[in-house]
Amino acid sequence: HGLMRAGIRAAARKGDEQARFFNDPAVRADPYPFYASVRAAGPVVRGRLMWATARHDLAGAVLRHDAFGVGFSDRAMPGLVGAVFRYSRRSSPIGPVDPPSMLVTDPPDHGRYRRLVSKVFTARAIEGLRPRIEQTCAELLRDKPVDLVADFASLLPVTVIAEILGVPLDMRRQFLAWGNAAAPTLDLGLGFSTYRRTEVNIKRVNDWMRGHFARLRREPGDDLLSQLVQLDDLSEDELLATAGLLLAAGFETTVNLLGTGAWLLMRHPEQLAVLRDEPQRWGNAVEETLRYDSPVQVTARVCRRATEFGGARIEPGQVVMSMLAGANRDPDVFEHPDEFDVTRANAREHLSFSGGAHYCLGAALARLEGEIGLRMLFERYPDLRIDGEPHRRTTRVLRGFESLPVTI
Ligand code: HEM
Repeated sequence: HGLMRAGIRAAARKGDEQARFFNDPAVRADPYPFYASVRAAGPVVRGRLMWATARHDLAGAVLRHDAFGVGFSDRAMPGLVGAVFRYSRRSSPIGPVDPPSMLVTDPPDHGRYRRLVSKVFTARAIEGLRPRIEQTCAELLRDKPVDLVADFASLLPVTVIAEILGVPLDMRRQFLAWGNAAAPTLDLGLGFSTYRRTEVNIKRVNDWMRGHFARLRREPGDDLLSQLVQLDDLSEDELLATAGLLLAAGFETTVNLLGTGAWLLMRHPEQLAVLRDEPQRWGNAVEETLRYDSPVQVTARVCRRATEFGGARIEPGQVVMSMLAGANRDPDVFEHPDEFDVTRANAREHLSFSGGAHYCLGAALARLEGEIGLRMLFERYPDLRIDGEPHRRTTRVLRGFESLPVTI
């Protein structure tokens, strides 16, 4: 990690665009001029560490291309970048156990995990959660929020996922603390201590989860995890990887959708007025929020065989960063891409839920939580205003607010 960190710093000093993503505070504050510069530099741009694309067509194509995979295995990604990628994933909630979660598993194994989870995570099951999500929102909004993230945006998703996993609600604060400590491990170039801390936390979650599975086997509830445990098709470690992924993916991202959406609407009262007059547009407001400031900014794929891609020759083992949030501002697809417009006709073409085999399994749930959460927030507190200095999370891959002081 020391070497990787030094490498990223040195590359960033030499103007390496991809290294700037992980290193430059200006890019963290506002990454959009940076994505525009990557797009202007070419279809796929080579850096010292990896390739990158911020073009909508190519950022999507790399996710669907069968020459590219998630590259978790040793064979897929040789060298220092590979070693750091694997280590950091192993010490993050997305791949700590062997076999790791579906998010970092290539086909054909990927399909087996995904099909099993899809069996219980059906569109019908998600839609069935609507009344509970509405009830949870109403309860959370009973007291006026002071910090919109702590009092609402973080609590709604963690409550919903806790219910899906049949977890007692008093575990929520604990999950939030674990999740927040682990979120930076999706970035590169961190200090070793961050990974150590996360490893210790993950071990605690996993120990707790094993006990939880045993409880659900003895006394299954009507939650989705009880069903998954009953299927008996996943080994204990596979179950652990799946539950850990659902837990982390379930709230680390949706909190950003809710926080960013509320922030954007407070800053654009004219857009809020449109939604007040035409509430049927709330779904599109969620899509536009996802497009305008994606909760997951980038993802990466590893080349499995030499491939011509975007006019470049990519060699096996090389990494291509798909800049999802950059693609979402591509002027070839979105007119006036830097404007936030809840009536935008093609907002849904964003890449914020990724694409191809790993397209977000929770997209329908995230959309439902986003729509209900933002609508009920502004119905209950129509005059909600920012009141103080908002603070952004320091993470790079995940983008959103850590705190958002508000007044009603
Ligand atoms: C995968 C984004 C909410 C479960 C992904 C990926 C992205 C993403 C970008 C794919 C990463 C890649 O291709 O490398 C988001 C965003 C969300 C959200 C922006 C909220 C606004 C959720 C929720 C759940 C969930 C609520 C579940 C409860 C998953 C799972 C995968 C995934 C299981 C792995 C799918 C696979 O590998 O086949 N998500 N997600 N996500 N997401 Fe989400």
